[in-house]
Amino acid sequence: NTVKPDTLPKAENGAPSEITLDNFEDLSAISKNDDSTHFTIFGYARSKMTDAELRHMVSKTLTCRIDKRENCSEKMEEFLKRCFYHSGQYDSEENFMELDKKLKQHEGSRVSNRLFYLSIPPNIFLDVVKCASKSASSMNGWTRVIVEKPFGRDSESSAALTRGLKQYLVEDQIFRIDHYLGKELVENLSVLRFSNLVFEPLWSRQYIRNVQLIFSEDFGTEGRGGYFDGYGIIRDIMQNHLLQILALFAMETPISLEAEDIRNEKVKVLRSMKPLQLEDVVMGQYKSHTKGGMTYPGYTDDKTVPKDSVTPTFAAAALFINNARWDGVPFLMKAGKALHTKRAEIRVQFRHVPGNLYKGSFGTDLDRATNELVIRVQPDEAIYLKINNKIPGLGMRLDRSNLNLHYAARYSKEIPDAYERLLLDAIEGERRLFIRSDELDAAWSLFTPLLKELEEKRIAPELYPYGSRGPVGAHYLAAKYNVRWGDLSAEHYKA
Ligand code: BG6
Repeated sequence: NTVKPDTLPKAENGAPSEITLDNFEDLSAISKNDDSTHFTIFGYARSKMTDAELRHMVSKTLTCRIDKRENCSEKMEEFLKRCFYHSGQYDSEENFMELDKKLKQHEGSRVSNRLFYLSIPPNIFLDVVKCASKSASSMNGWTRVIVEKPFGRDSESSAALTRGLKQYLVEDQIFRIDHYLGKELVENLSVLRFSNLVFEPLWSRQYIRNVQLIFSEDFGTEGRGGYFDGYGIIRDIMQNHLLQILALFAMETPISLEAEDIRNEKVKVLRSMKPLQLEDVVMGQYKSHTKGGMTYPGYTDDKTVPKDSVTPTFAAAALFINNARWDGVPFLMKAGKALHTKRAEIRVQFRHVPGNLYKGSFGTDLDRATNELVIRVQPDEAIYLKINNKIPGLGMRLDRSNLNLHYAARYSKEIPDAYERLLLDAIEGERRLFIRSDELDAAWSLFTPLLKELEEKRIAPELYPYGSRGPVGAHYLAAKYNVRWGDLSAEHYKA
């Protein structure tokens, strides 16, 4: 990570005064007066726990970068010594005052910056923000709050949450996290497009036929049914992760890489979109399935899920951006749990090459040349472009092959976890990858009418077997827009 020294929270001696778990190494490495003593991490929750117990818990998941393995255990020890725990109620200003007192003991007379990271149920967001801001804000440095989704369930509840947060915080203090924005290949999206002349000129309705944003998991809601049932896949994945990727993908060139310039462009995309209609969505819910002697549970087999739940665990949708660049181009989203595979990818299918010079040369029904660009966000990160080429030898037969940037082969470096990047950004005050209030409003406006209609009419999702490719309806939806999901011509492409 590039560190901007001027934006780092500084303690008196220039060292960052607070730091997060995953970024310990990054920041300790960049801190000039690096004695690693000027940051502390406090766990805060209702459960009783000692510092030692917290440290033990943290130590089980603490990792070390490969290239710095030599003094790994020493560094981990040093890190763990900086971790503490305070038990308190979420709505008790008094308990937060106790936390404040403990923090002050560690901060001494130095300038202190405080970052609160709220990974808590939404119904206690406001209580915590109120107590933290009233009783445990920094007196001489900055105070920031990272909030995890869900940011409401619809436009109204999201706006109410924002209003609530703004009673205690200003916009600049709120860091709404969408961890997909911290994924390496999502970060690379703008680099790919804006720093390669071969892509940006093609990035429009003139050359792109459709764009697909695909998220699939090969496991169900195991253990999270209680939370999930109140939200469903549209709120859990589409309205945030996939929509954020779409906005980044489709935005106009920002004036600069500054957070506000990028977020301004993303908002414009979101506000140019047509709110989703029922006829452009397909919903599914996984059902129990037995395969190879194993029985996989259905969604409603989860004890925390009502037996008659109509919450979708799968959804496919066709979205449109009504602006000059993207007029008429379908952006197809697909998100599902308990499918046959785990992956997240962006597929860009280009128009056919005009003319039919090589008609018949593919030796199949595919006699028109076309290209596809795939950005495989996870797993096994890669960017590959499908091109047409001649099969070597006498005669003229065409084939399709991949020009492949395969990250594991190209870079030996471990790819940081999305949260590492985002937590580090929050410490540095870098807002580019966090969601601004107006972005959130625009995102909810697109989905709220549909979500309301689905719930009011209790529209039943199409059932699909656990581990399958999802409901057939998704294919009909794509076909309506002359699109095929996934590989343009799987059978003809070489890996
Ligand atoms: C979360 C969703 O935001 O993202 C989960 O709430 C989902 O349902 C998860 O499993 C997926 O994240 P990742 O990084 O594992 O792809």
